[in-house]
This record gives sequence, C-alpha cells and structure tokens, in this order.
Amino acid sequence: MSIVKINVLTVPEEQREVLEQRFGARAGAVENSDGFEWFELLRPLEGTDQYLVYTRWRDEESFQAWMEGGMRASHGQASGSQASGPESGEAPKDGEAGGEKRKPAATGSTLWSFEVVQQAAPKNA
Ligand code: HEM
Repeated sequence: MSIVKINVLTVPEEQREVLEQRFGARAGAVENSDGFEWFELLRPLEGTDQYLVYTRWRDEESFQAWMEGGMRASHGQASGSQASGPESGEAPKDGEAGGEKRKPAATGSTLWSFEVVQQAAPKNA
C-alpha cells in the first residue's frame, strides 16, 4: 500500500496567513508527479501549533524522485530549507524587493514517514 510523508512546519501565529498564501500560490506543484496520490495542508485547531503538510505516494521511490526533481523546483532551494524562493528560481538578496517574501514563514520543519496499513473511504465516494 501507499506511503505517507508528513512535513511538520512550525509557524508563528503572525506568519500563518503568509504560509497559507504561499501554499495556495503553489497549487499544482506536485499533481503531475509520478506516484503522487494526495496532498493536504492541515492548519492546527487545537493540541498543537504546527501545520502538517500531508502527502501520500504510491511508494518510497515516487517520493524520493519528487524530492530530487519537483520538490527542488517548487521549494526554490535544493534542501527545501529556504522554501519561499520566487517562482523564477532567482534568489533576490535580503533587503531587495522581494526579500520580505523570501523569508520563510516556517521557523522549523520535521519530516515524518508512515506506511498505510489500513484505509477506508465512503462506499459511494
Ligand atoms: C512531504 C513533502 C514535503 C517536504 C519534505 C517539504 C519541505 C519543506 C520544508 C523543509 C519547508 C520549510 C522551509 C523553511 O522553513 O524555509 C517547506 C515549506 C513550504 N513548502 Fe514544502 N515540503 C513538502 C511538501 C510540499 C508540497 C506538496 C508543497 C506544494 C503544494 C509545498 C510547498 C511549500 C511552501 C509553499 C512552503 C512555505 C514556505 C515558507 O515557509 O514560506 N511543500 N516545505
């Protein structure tokens, strides 16, 4: 069965809107990747202040392939540690126009990996 990769993002309260807008702007970033099955950006309501970036993949290989191709493209930097680079891939220097936009909204991230062992969906879905 599929595997689930969840990126856990620590986002200060005042940066939430910025983060969500950036994800919105990147809609379409993974849809065409081979083996991609599902994506959800989960905003915390209670119990944690961390956002979850839920992604599900056919297998580990599909995820790794995306990490090395599509993810680099969609996150601006190879490591993903500077996730908010502009679409062009050009990196404006701090202080330049766009510098504010480039600063990550997230202050930290952790990747969790799971395999799906059981699942269910509504009968008529
Ligand atoms: C499990 C797979 C993923 C990993 C490992 C990953 C990696 C990361 C990391 C490390 C950050 C934080 C960067 C920072 O603090 O500067 C981040 C933020 C972000 N990622 Fe991902 N990501 C994943 C999935 C996705 C997907 C599927 C999308 C697009 C739909 C996406 C778009 C973004 C955006 C827009 C940000 C916000 C940048 C900001 O902090 O302003 N990510 N990601």
